[in-house]
Amino acid sequence: MPTNLHEFLRSRRSIRRFQSQAVDRETLTRILATATRAPSAHNRQPWRFAVLTQPQPKSRLSEFLGAEFRRDLASDGLPEAEIQSRLKRSKSRIVDAPVVIILCMDASEMDVYPDEKRSGAEQTMAIQSVAAAGLQLQLAAHAEGLGSVWTCGPLFSPKTVKAALDLPESWEPQAMFFIGYPAEEPRKKELKTLDEVTQWM
Ligand SMILES: Cc1cc2nc3c(=O)[nH]c(=O)nc-3n(C[C@H](O)[C@H](O)[C@H](O)COP(=O)(O)O)c2cc1C
Repeated sequence: MPTNLHEFLRSRRSIRRFQSQAVDRETLTRILATATRAPSAHNRQPWRFAVLTQPQPKSRLSEFLGAEFRRDLASDGLPEAEIQSRLKRSKSRIVDAPVVIILCMDASEMDVYPDEKRSGAEQTMAIQSVAAAGLQLQLAAHAEGLGSVWTCGPLFSPKTVKAALDLPESWEPQAMFFIGYPAEEPRKKELKTLDEVTQWM
């Protein structure tokens, strides 16, 4: 792992295949503690984490999400064989990952405004704060020699995720991270040039 800090930050890549080796609780606790050092709007810390390491909750989540996914694919008109194969892949991603973390947002402590413009901005601030914790979580996992990938499934099925895991009412699922010791080398990544994404003034 690179020791130069910039090199370290640049070397994080999404990892989607994992060894079966479990990740111990102390390691996960360090990762979560680092994630919670992210900046947040008004320091309200709206991030919440559901950490799944046991087979039962992973399996329950995969079943619940699978049922919704099946309905969506069927309404898209996909043939049954294609539905089966996509469902199998999506379920095994959850069940086979050593650790699954559902990153949620609890916006109940954010400021309240009477108008849509400022309420919307406040909501965006909470989402941005949670995303900052998500990146910090991935970098902390990387610092532990772990691989991770951010997935967005819960954004499409927040109610299903909450029901499967019996999450508190105010927790809004935003992302699902798969974490484990890497079992793949990521392919070379295409990056936009700095000129494409920057305006100097
Ligand atoms: C908001 C967000 C949503 C993502 N959703 C998915 C996803 O659903 N499935 C997936 O395999 N990767 C997902 N990714 C990972 C991206 O594909 C990945 O970060 C991107 O291709 C850049 O590669 P890198 O992470 O290796 O640098 C997501 C990343 C972000 C930030």
